[in-house]
Amino acid sequence: MIRTLDDLDCEGVAVGVRIDINSPLSESGLADDARLRAHVETLSELLERGGRVALLAHQGRPGDDDFSTLSAHADRLDELLSAPVDYCDATFSTAARERVAELAAGEAVLLENTRFYAEEYMEFDPERAADTHLVRGLEPALDVYVNDAFAAAHRSQPSLVGFPQRLPGYAGRVMERELDVLGAIEDTPRPRVYLLGGAKVGDSIGVARSVIERDLADVVLTAGLVGNVCLLASGAELGTASAEFVYDQGYWDEIDRAGELLDTADELRVPKDVAIERDGERHEIPVSDLPQETESPAMDVGSETIESYADVIDSAGTVILNGPAGVFEEEIFARGTHDLYSTASEAAYSIVGGGDTAAAIRQLEIEGFDHVSTGGGASLALLAGDSLPAVEALGE
Ligand code: 3PG
Repeated sequence: MIRTLDDLDCEGVAVGVRIDINSPLSESGLADDARLRAHVETLSELLERGGRVALLAHQGRPGDDDFSTLSAHADRLDELLSAPVDYCDATFSTAARERVAELAAGEAVLLENTRFYAEEYMEFDPERAADTHLVRGLEPALDVYVNDAFAAAHRSQPSLVGFPQRLPGYAGRVMERELDVLGAIEDTPRPRVYLLGGAKVGDSIGVARSVIERDLADVVLTAGLVGNVCLLASGAELGTASAEFVYDQGYWDEIDRAGELLDTADELRVPKDVAIERDGERHEIPVSDLPQETESPAMDVGSETIESYADVIDSAGTVILNGPAGVFEEEIFARGTHDLYSTASEAAYSIVGGGDTAAAIRQLEIEGFDHVSTGGGASLALLAGDSLPAVEALGE
């Protein structure tokens, strides 16, 4: 049983809160603050109830362009919350402990990017994680630990699994809601339809296999790069440009995995037609007319696919979306994602995976879903039936 904020009396208590505010950045700072906004409920509640809140978070991965300090994130949280949020450029040193000790009830400080420290970019079992410099360094300044970072819960890193070994651990409101929804898919109304698209081909094929094997899915619709891989697996000759793209992305092996699934699972559907670019325009080709000399890769599903997938989604009791149906960032290839997501938003019950999927619905301004997850990799892991280390660490 996981304790939640309902079980926590936090008046005057030093609460370490792990959040996931890993966000796209622009030259001027944060390009998207959706993940910060998602934590407002948890943080407001803790601060209003007199908590002294020390926030832990990561941004980017070492070596990447978006690997940065959390100073802009602290400024934005300060704007979003009615309580003050300060920034501290230390994470677990004496300076960090002193800053946490200075917090008054109802004040927060965002500590520096946990991944500035090598330990936090490694995976540990919880006992070892509890023995890292990060956890041992900061833990004396804290009384309790709250994990609200659902989007990072598939990682077994010290700030996610180590603290609850040493401190009483609680799930924040984001974590609680995500687990309530994504952890209870087997109770949702049938027919249950999964639309799996996007570029995380290995993960999506894993989800498809898992939900079919566990009899959770009545239909699995494939689109995006996942759909292209399934088409190649079905023997369709998508053309050199599409095949080379799949190969360049390192997904060649996934064709065999998709092929095994197609051989055994009636639930799995592949696109009937695809859209390519020709002379700057959208041009659709039925799969039955392949092979054709196509100079550009398949970047979206075509109208016939959209229509038949929309019919399936229309009659679903539950729709679970993960990954866009095409390269929605380009106007001529946004139709599949736009039309299928719009249909899904009107379904009886709809759940949207996070990451690229949540970004797509924001960009395409589609609303009306019952649940939009904050997690990309974490929601895929949960959909595939995997346990999440950070949730397990909170469990006992
Ligand atoms: C995410 O953005 O999916 C999470 O913040 C986890 O980030 P990671 O994939 O770099 O561990």
